[in-house]
Parts: sequence; C-alpha cells; structure tokens
Amino acid sequence: MNMIKVGIIGAGRIGKVHMTSISTRVKDAVIKTVADPFLNEETIAFAKSMGVEHTTKDYHEIINDPEIDAVLICSSTDTHSPISIEAIKAGKHVFCEKPIDHDVARIKEVMEALKGTGLKYQVGFNRRFDHNFEALQKAVAEGKVGKPEIIKITSRDPEPPSPEYVKVSGGMFLDMTIHDFDMVRFLAGCDATEVYVEAANLVDPAIGEAGDVDTAVITLKMENGAIAVIDNCRRAAYGYDQRAEVFGSEGMAAIDNDSQSLTKISNAQGVTGEKPLFFFLERYMDAYGKEVSEFIKAIVEGKDTPLGVEDGLKPVLMGLAAKKSLEEHRPVKISEIG
Ligand SMILES: NC(=O)c1ccc[n+]([C@@H]2O[C@H](COP(=O)([O-])OP(=O)(O)OC[C@H]3O[C@@H](n4cnc5c(N)ncnc54)[C@H](O)[C@@H]3O)[C@@H](O)[C@H]2O)c1
Repeated sequence: MNMIKVGIIGAGRIGKVHMTSISTRVKDAVIKTVADPFLNEETIAFAKSMGVEHTTKDYHEIINDPEIDAVLICSSTDTHSPISIEAIKAGKHVFCEKPIDHDVARIKEVMEALKGTGLKYQVGFNRRFDHNFEALQKAVAEGKVGKPEIIKITSRDPEPPSPEYVKVSGGMFLDMTIHDFDMVRFLAGCDATEVYVEAANLVDPAIGEAGDVDTAVITLKMENGAIAVIDNCRRAAYGYDQRAEVFGSEGMAAIDNDSQSLTKISNAQGVTGEKPLFFFLERYMDAYGKEVSEFIKAIVEGKDTPLGVEDGLKPVLMGLAAKKSLEEHRPVKISEIG
C-alpha cells in the first residue's frame, strides 16, 4: 500500500503533538495538509518544519481532497462530531480527539454515519498507550491479581485551566475525568453501571463562578462487580499526578508517576526524589505517538482500531452520569443516561 496521506484539522496544542508524531515516528503516513482558521506565521513555520506540504484556514480543503485518506480532528470539542460526519461522508478514515461530543445524540449520529462504510475511526484516549498503564492493564487481563475488586485512579493536574477554558470545556467530568472514565473501563475490562460523585470548588473561585468544580471523588460500580474510585484535582503543587492501582482476589498491581530520572538524593536533610513530569505533553508524548501509529497501522493492515466510536461514547455517558450525580446528590445508573 502507498503512504497514507493525512490531513490535520486544528493546529493548537494537540494538533502540534500529532504533527510531531506523524512526522517523526509514523513511517507509513505523511501529512499533506494542516487546517486551522487562526493559522499564524508561527504555526505555518511549525507545520513546515514537520514536513507538511500545505496549510490552509479552511478545513474543507482537507475534506474535499480526494488524495487524503485520513483525517485527524484536533480542533475545539464543539467541532468534533460535525467534522467527523463530514469526513466520513467524504470517505476518510478518522482519528478524533476526545471527547467526540458532549451530546449523546450527536455521537450516535457519528456511529450512524460510520455504519457499513468500512472506514476506521479512533478516539484519542492516549493514556491506554502509556507504558505504565499498558503494563498494568496487561497484568490485570492476564489474571495476575485474580478477579479485580477495587480499582483506584488518582488523576490531578499540576495547574488549573483558565475560567474562559472552563466555560467551554463541558465541565471537569467531560474534559478531564473523561480520561479516567476510559481508564477505569480499560483496567476493569468492562463497563460501569453506576456513578456517585462528591465534588467541590476548592482550587480557584473563578472556576466555581464559571459553573464548574475542580476537586472530586467519584465512585463507580463496574459490571464485573468491582468497585472503582477516581480522585481528581485541577491543581497539584508537585506536578501531574497520574497513578493507578488494581486490587484483586490474588493480589495487587500498581503504577507510580514518571519522572525525568529515578535519582534519589539522601543527605542530612532527608531523602528526596524528582517531581513527576510536569503535564500531559511531558508525560504522554510517547503515548500520543503510539496511538497515532496504531491508527495508521489499522488502516494499512485493514484491522480494527484499538479504540472505536463505542469507546468514545461510553466515557461521555459516565461523565453525564457524574454531572447528574453531583446535581442531584445521589448515585446515578448509566442506564439513566442517553
Ligand atoms: N488527548 C489528550 O490528552 C488531549 C490533550 C489536549 C487536548 N485534547 C483535545 O483536543 C482538542 C483541542 O485541544 P487543544 O488543547 O489542542 O486546544 P487549542 O485551543 O490549543 O487548539 C484548538 C485549535 O483548533 C482550531 N480550530 C477551531 N475550530 C476549527 C475548525 N473549524 N477547523 C480547524 N481548526 C479549528 C483553533 O483555532 C485552535 O488552533 C480538544 O477537544 C481537547 O479536548 C486532548
């Protein structure tokens, strides 16, 4: 098969991450076009440095280009489902950043558009491709801890987003916790049936004024009987805190944070190690590369993507259940949503 020609829609933070991955480590793909309505000199120069042939302000140039096989949707969340549908109708394979949409009906429209096309669709839950989370999931799936009973995920950002971002983010559960909802499904090997939330605005009053929370403990009941707990905070003084543990009938498996090195300094003041890698761009760069490689591989080898559109829908259902639980202060069954 020839090289897969890719178009990237949205050249912000994550668009640049995927440009870098494709240009530096995905051998079967080239980026033909990058589109962003706010293209500036800096973005154009960045795209050029990544070997991109063409940049444009109008993403329709990508959708209407018969030479382009696959589209990466890296634009703002509200554009994901409409652009997914346009790209599918134009016969393109789609990699879509999370979340596909905040609205279940719109995600179902994407599912409908995909039906019978044979096109590949992948959602950007990058943490599944992180070396630690991948190894943890493998250990659990291989039965090394027996039957999973308790799953614990700690996910805390180093610093909060701006209130402007919070207003359009869909709220913490659909923007941040959504990665943890995906991770709980990945580690448990099944879906959640019920969600209960305790949450507060403790970090920045402006986040509360924007209508959101910034600190939460979320408990979930899983289909296999396991109980899961996610704790989130939009601020951790020591950096990006990403840990997990699965406790089961035969033992326990856990992963710690990644740091630049494992050096520990022991002296008269105490024993100190390095802080965790600062944020997602530092911690997950390799995982972003792997997820896009897998997407291109699915196209080249004609196999399923590791995360399909269903995997995009399920964490949104969990996020909406979490929102409802907070509003109504009660456990909410996933079956109550959509
Ligand atoms: N998987 C992850 O870890 C991860 C990390 C960050 C962001 N994201 C997701 O990626 C998306 C983008 O986030 P970001 O942090 O890169 O935001 P960003 O604001 O840095 O970039 C978004 C870009 O999309 C562009 N854009 C908006 N409408 C467009 C359109 N119609 N056509 C083309 N471009 C358009 C904007 O001009 C902007 O440059 C969000 O949905 C976010 O949830 C995922």
